Amino acid sequence: MAIHSDRTSEPSVQAYRASVLHFTDDPAVNDRAYAWFEDGLLIVRDGKVLQVGDYHQHKTGIPDGTVIQDYRGKMIIPGFIDTHVHYPQTDMIASPAPGLLPWLETYTFPTEQRFSDLSHCREVAHFFIGELLRCGTTTAMVYCTVHPESVQAFFEASEARNLRMVAGKIMMDRNCPPYLQDTAERGARETDDLIRTWHQRGRQLVAITPRFAPTSTPAQLQLAGELAQAYPDVYLQTHAAENTDELAWVQALFPAARSYMDVYDQYGLLRPRAMYGHCIWLNDHDRTRMAQTGSSIAICPTSNLFLGSGLFDFQGADQHRLALSFGTDVGGGTSFSMLQTMNEAYKVARLGGSYLPALRMFYLATLGGARSMALEGVIGHFALGAEADFIVLDLQATPVLARRTARAGSLEELLFSLALLGDDRSVLATYAAGRQVHSRDASPAQP
Ligand code: GUN
Ligand code: ZN
Repeated sequence: MAIHSDRTSEPSVQAYRASVLHFTDDPAVNDRAYAWFEDGLLIVRDGKVLQVGDYHQHKTGIPDGTVIQDYRGKMIIPGFIDTHVHYPQTDMIASPAPGLLPWLETYTFPTEQRFSDLSHCREVAHFFIGELLRCGTTTAMVYCTVHPESVQAFFEASEARNLRMVAGKIMMDRNCPPYLQDTAERGARETDDLIRTWHQRGRQLVAITPRFAPTSTPAQLQLAGELAQAYPDVYLQTHAAENTDELAWVQALFPAARSYMDVYDQYGLLRPRAMYGHCIWLNDHDRTRMAQTGSSIAICPTSNLFLGSGLFDFQGADQHRLALSFGTDVGGGTSFSMLQTMNEAYKVARLGGSYLPALRMFYLATLGGARSMALEGVIGHFALGAEADFIVLDLQATPVLARRTARAGSLEELLFSLALLGDDRSVLATYAAGRQVHSRDASPAQP
């Protein structure tokens, strides 16, 4: 494809020397869940992982003539995966409102109205993707708006950088301003068209995206369920059980449902590759059904604290072995950084009587996301042949981080200091499919 033709002139093998960390399992259930090479080597060929391991053991695997990029003193990990974020809300991040529903009315809907204009979509998508890459996020599950143009613009921007991204057109046919409403049929038809155009085109993947139960009629949820059945390898994303006012609203709109999650269950929307944002106010029956159906949860702590939605129950989720990952939920979330998201997740867990080790948080932000998306072996860790999406973390990015990391007595302490003190400044470089797509220290004109 023409947009990638510049890569053909690059050497096909690259080698990177740094401390290297990646996960092979969830540290909550396996105490040998990660591989850590203090003096490590990552070799990439044609955008895929060729070798990973200890530098001295693996250096003989470097083909003659390959330049080794020397990142000693830095840490390479897989790119972060943000499993719940709204690109059209970029410009309304940090908008004050007393809770989810007034925030949607006052800021979100008017902001999303502008995405009927393709050039606006393109401008915001470009900025948004740049922001993800600056923060070390190489894959995200992205909500666009009700306008198909918003999805087109997002995928064009993602494809131009050869990123692996999931995105979907919001379906919303009631309880929103008329300027943002589709109909059940139109929402399904436009989603179907987007699936045919974009799903599996290069690294792009599509998600069926009913916004949340209150803004879809039963007819729309029915058609979303039919699409989900027709395309089992397509993703599905929505919001669930985020806020108690929302819960009462869902009960009034769907009086026959036994719970909020039961609404989605009744329309066949619980399944593998289904990503439910928030899931704060679940009951055990909901968790059982999510586990039985292979549905996943995107935990969004900065948003939940900002909007006062509640505290995610880690113990409840772990008792059911649910597939978990982290979302920023920008613009409800207050940061694009997955490190800042870990920072708040840690405190949410503490307030709920749980404890989240840093090792687990880094798992949730990488392999946990990939597993939830059925992309294990493709992204999220350095499996041989996996797509080489990775980041270089600077342990000395700020004076206080440098002091704290210098005194870290273990890998856990090192990661913990990064999670609590790190942000976009800690991301020295971001690579997607083996190609550098962000350099912190380059001039602003860089990608
Ligand atoms: N519920 C329905 N829409 C939204 C949204 O845009 N953000 C959040 N956080 N929750 C929602
Ligand atoms: Zn959201």
